[in-house]
Order: sequence, then structure tokens, then C-alpha cells
Amino acid sequence: MKIYTSIKELQSDVLDLRSREISIGFVPTMGALHKGHLSLLQRSKDENDISLCSIFVNPIQFNNKQDLEKYPRTLEEDCRKLEQAGCDIVFAPSVDEMYPEEVKMQYDFGHLDKVMEGKHRPGHFNGMAVVVKKLFDICIPHRAYFGEKDFQQLMIVRELVKMNKIPVTVIGCAIIREDDGLAMSSRNTRLSPHERSIATEIYKTLLWMRHQAEQRTVEEILQQARQKLASHPEIKIEYIEIVDEETLLPVSDWNSSGNIRLLIALFLGEVRLIDNMRIR
Ligand code: PAJ
Repeated sequence: MKIYTSIKELQSDVLDLRSREISIGFVPTMGALHKGHLSLLQRSKDENDISLCSIFVNPIQFNNKQDLEKYPRTLEEDCRKLEQAGCDIVFAPSVDEMYPEEVKMQYDFGHLDKVMEGKHRPGHFNGMAVVVKKLFDICIPHRAYFGEKDFQQLMIVRELVKMNKIPVTVIGCAIIREDDGLAMSSRNTRLSPHERSIATEIYKTLLWMRHQAEQRTVEEILQQARQKLASHPEIKIEYIEIVDEETLLPVSDWNSSGNIRLLIALFLGEVRLIDNMRIR
């Protein structure tokens, strides 16, 4: 497994691979890798000749300074996991390498970046889009793998690719969960044992909402889901939404066309967790 920190060196090797018609699968991450990340790598390995994984804690997508400071950084261990999982190339640049100058780019994704995560984490999606566009320009992958865990991010990346006519196929991958249903996340390591035991309620609530759907109104389900979660004093809900997957607009009844997705964001103690599930 080859590890690069220089944009120039990686890009020149990537161009060489492409000139030899070797297909490149790309998995962008911020490190602190778990089985969710590794499932994206496995998919990339199944579908491409070479798999490239980036590890970069992107400062400009953190709207909360404390969250950035506390974000786990475990580069050595991550590289060990990637090597074991059969990754071919790791790109782990420094902040100066990625951002030698101040970033001025401002994207507008219409409604997609104004709701849910976009509303509660101002600037987050712009910072995410800036780094993903830059990583695509550097790594020039044929296919790029993103988890449905960050469902809104996946939708915005699809839009970014469309807007900029980037020749990459974006592939969405299923959420990998712990045995009790908690979606795997680098932030889970920050939960206390007590908080960790409560965290399973997020998944249970999503399952309950999916099970109850169509037997009650959308409004009733939202209200009862809020009540269920709010009964735990450690939980502070940011949002619970039932939206159309394409537009991310709230649905008011179950008969609206297209696929419907449930999304939850909340604080458990000081740790912000998100999860989602398709209803149909
Ligand atoms: P990060 O949170 O490290 O996640 C990297 C990728 O792993 C994302 O596509 C995310 O959706 C996926 N992922 C995380 N947990 C998962 C799980 N439990 N199951 C399946 N996939 C999971 O998302 C980012 O980094 C950044 O915003 C990034 C795209 C790298 C840009 O900085």
C-alpha cells in the first residue's frame, strides 16, 4: 500500500494509472476508520482495479470548533486497517497541502443544503463540497463511494458532480450498524458507557417509525417519535424529518410520490449523532 501526502506526486501517479486504463475507485474519509468505512473500500475493491482512500480531517466543514478539536485522529491505526483490508493507495495530506490559500468558493445547492444538516450546521456542506471537489480533481477516480449514513451529503455530492459535470460515478452504500443497531460512526467512541447504552434508541425509533408508517399520519408519527426520544433526559433532538429522497422536502402524507426517508439528528450528551432509514 502506497501512502501519499503530496498532491503533485499522487496526481502524477494517478494520471499514469489512468493512461494505462486502470480503473480507480475512491473512498474519501476523515479517518478514525471503522467497519462502515471499510465496507465502502470493499465495494470499491469489488468494482475497480485500484482503490484509493483519502484521510483528511477537513477543518472547513466543521462549524463547531470543539468538534474539530475533539475529532479522533488515528492515522497510523487507520493505515494499518486499510492495508489489512487491501487498500492500494492512501492519500493523507496536511491542511497546508490542501489549503495553501484561503478558500473563497461558495456553492449553492438550492434547497438541498438549506435543510436538516445544512440548517443546523451552517457552512458544513460548503466546506464538504469544496474538499470533495478538490479530492475529485486530485484523485480523478472512475467511481467514488459514499455512505448513506450521511444521506444528505450523498445527495449534495451527486448534485456537485452534476453541476460541475465531473466524470465520476457516485455510488451510495448501505449503513453499517453495531449489533444493537447504532449506526457506526467515528463519534461513537466519545460516548460514555451510559450514553452508549441509550444510543440504540435512535435505531429503535427509526424502526418504530417505519413500522407505524401508513397506519398513522406523518404528523402523528413525528410527534410520537419526538416524545419517545425526548423521554431520555440525555437526548437533545435537533431534528426528526420525513422527506422525499430526491428533493429532501418534507412529505405531508404517505401517498406522495417517490421514496421516503426518515432522518434523525440529536445530541447525546455532548456528542452529535445522525441516522436515517428508507421507509419505502
Ligand atoms: P467520514 O465521516 O469519515 O465518512 C466517510 C464516508 O464513510 C462517508 O461517505 C460516510 O457516509 C461513510 N460512513 C460513515 N459511517 C458509515 C456507516 N456506519 N455505514 C456506511 N458508511 C458510513 O463523510 C465524511 O467523512 C466527510 O464529509 C468527507 C466526505 C470525507 C469529506 O470531508
